[in-house]
Amino acid sequence: MQIDGATKLYGIIGKPISHSLSPAMHNAAFQTHDLNKVYVAFEVTDVARALDGFRALGVGGVSVTIPHKQAVIPHLDAIDPVAQKIGAVNTLLIEDTHISGFNTDWIGANQALEMIVDLPQSTVLVLGAGGSARAIGFGLQEKGATVILANRTLSRGQALARDLNCEFYPLEDIKAIEIDALVNTTSVGMTPDVDATLAPESVLKNVPAVMDIVYSPLETRLLREAKKVGCKTVNGTYMLLFQGVAQYELWTGRKAPVDVMREKLFSQLDSQ
Ligand code: ATR
Repeated sequence: MQIDGATKLYGIIGKPISHSLSPAMHNAAFQTHDLNKVYVAFEVTDVARALDGFRALGVGGVSVTIPHKQAVIPHLDAIDPVAQKIGAVNTLLIEDTHISGFNTDWIGANQALEMIVDLPQSTVLVLGAGGSARAIGFGLQEKGATVILANRTLSRGQALARDLNCEFYPLEDIKAIEIDALVNTTSVGMTPDVDATLAPESVLKNVPAVMDIVYSPLETRLLREAKKVGCKTVNGTYMLLFQGVAQYELWTGRKAPVDVMREKLFSQLDSQ
């Protein structure tokens, strides 16, 4: 990597941020295309001042992660309509001092799911009602899928189901629903609670495709059991990969080197 007087800066804001896999993934992509760009991580507390700093310094684009995805919105100059609907922004495009906000999480989730299911016209059961469920739910609807929601806390699940204008089920009742795919958007199954799952084998038997957004471990109990009963599966790294791919394409106007980004992401995960 060569840094000189014309190098354009990109980055990610979040807190904490030091474990982010995005710098390795984006820098590998910039290098593949021989672009004079570099991507770094910023641990940020004050979002408003950070964005003003980016404007002042001529930063080209920024990823936004937890806990700032909602907090950046009042400080933007423009917001993409889907990001507005979701109520969360994970990508900033900065042109001169004008900052536009986008959400590529739903694009990443859709692309990952499309590896195992044909989304338009399919019915997808989304487990969870947090920020990830919200982005994935609206994103699936953008693609023409029918969303059904299930969540542990009924009031929270019903509130999101109202926003999505979709059906809601308590987790205990999901066995009876006929679906084309199931997505876990909760942290259930993540290290260290690797024995946890919201959809036991009895639920998975009639489900053709299963995605987990958890990527630590790479194969969660949900995915292991889904494979065992014959479902097609995709793990959480693909959502991470494809949300980054969409960011890269937005920032550079070029087709992202997906294979390079995937290899980088996987090797980072291996070394953790
Ligand atoms: P994010 O914004 O990353 O999606 P979040 O807002 O903390 O995260 O949402 C977490 C989701 O995981 C919620 O749907 C939560 O269910 P509740 O609404 O009932 O809290 C779900 N979740 C987390 N731990 C869970 C558990 N042990 N069992 C069932 N659901 C769980």
